[in-house]
Amino acid sequence: MSGVIHGLDGIVVTETRLSRVDGEAGRLTIGGFAVEELAPRAAYEEVLFLLWNDRLPTADELAELRACLESRRAVSEEALRLVVTAAVRRVHPMDALRMGAAAMSLSDRDPRATSRAANLERALDLVAAFPTLVAAYWRALLGEAPIAPDPRLGHAANYLYMLTGEAPSAAEVRALETYLNTVIDHGMNASTFAARVIVSTRSDMTSAIVGAVGALKGPLHGGAPGPALDMVLEIQQRSLRSGRDLAVEARAWADETIAAGERIMGFGHRIYRVRDPRAEVLGDAASLLFDDSADRVLYEDARIVETEILAALERAKPGRRIQTNVEFYTALLLHGIGLDAELFSPTFAVGRVGGWTAHVLEQIDEDRLIRPRAAYIGVFDRPWIPLESR
Ligand SMILES: CC(C)(COP(=O)(O)OP(=O)(O)OC[C@H]1O[C@@H](n2cnc3c(N)ncnc32)[C@H](O)[C@@H]1OP(=O)(O)O)[C@@H](O)C(=O)NCCC(=O)NCCS
Repeated sequence: MSGVIHGLDGIVVTETRLSRVDGEAGRLTIGGFAVEELAPRAAYEEVLFLLWNDRLPTADELAELRACLESRRAVSEEALRLVVTAAVRRVHPMDALRMGAAAMSLSDRDPRATSRAANLERALDLVAAFPTLVAAYWRALLGEAPIAPDPRLGHAANYLYMLTGEAPSAAEVRALETYLNTVIDHGMNASTFAARVIVSTRSDMTSAIVGAVGALKGPLHGGAPGPALDMVLEIQQRSLRSGRDLAVEARAWADETIAAGERIMGFGHRIYRVRDPRAEVLGDAASLLFDDSADRVLYEDARIVETEILAALERAKPGRRIQTNVEFYTALLLHGIGLDAELFSPTFAVGRVGGWTAHVLEQIDEDRLIRPRAAYIGVFDRPWIPLESR
């Protein structure tokens, strides 16, 4: 039907100062900074402060925010039990996180409060708790007890510590921090929109974040960087088995996959028509991380695979400008940090929750109900038929 914009494609629903995605130029701006300027330098807490306050924190403000988050890392017994039970029953990690996030209402200091200040309190609780919930789930999946947070570690470092029980290296922390900063916000994506819709009814921060986690779970959004990594590993294996050069094997694999009408994971984007700027930032971060690691070969191989796939896509779809997207290097980077593919989507949420909370606060300030319309395509004036006559 004319006038219907399916998927709200191209519709501008609000104004935001949080981030801007320019798909034609391949530019992502977060809180006024180009992603490549901000993400590799900032601590996650600094970007969080930036999104909440529209400026970078002073040293005192940063210390205060860090201490505040640190004091809120421990979650309630009930929330912990929920995510542990979810792991024992092999529930999807994003479902576990959704349930854990919902249980945060149990420890809400002022459960009925509706003010902006009360919602900011909830934002602090949620951002602080996400790593704890994901790590507890992961430990239970391994059959291990949760690890208590370490107050000496920053947000990103403590997340890695709670996953493994080992103090992460400075390079691993930097890599994770760069990842979390890179994905913290990305325009009016589906989960952010879902969060804003929920709070636009004057609901609360926790409800909005729970909805956002649900939206992020879908493979069209939270994505599946796992398959992108599997692809590189598979091509490596093929090359080892056949004895052929990796580039030759990658070319053959890409041509076969495209000819079979399949999508190659980690390539293409609805908005970006040039290389996704996040792929650039994460590619550089991966290069640094893999610098003196035994896995350097994996990084070099991934670059060869990327080059061959881009060439194959250009041969098969000339002029379509299908480029590397964020998922390709996310997979490589998170794998390099030592995260299992099962943790990729929840780790995305650990980063994105900062952006969600900032959007919810922005929406609270805007205070405008989001209520689009649908074009009715059903029939009219049906006569009622009694049950016994149907
Ligand atoms: C992300 C994605 C859904 C965006 O798609 P889109 O911009 O809407 O592009 P379309 O689906 O309209 O595809 C345009 C053409 O390019 C092809 N194409 C797009 N991405 C492709 C990919 N990764 N591999 C192979 N072909 C691809 C499509 O098959 C289509 O070809 P056709 O018109 O001959 O059928 C798509 O690129 C994709 O599926 N990528 C792989 C999954 C992925 O990496 N997702 C994470 C995104 S961050």
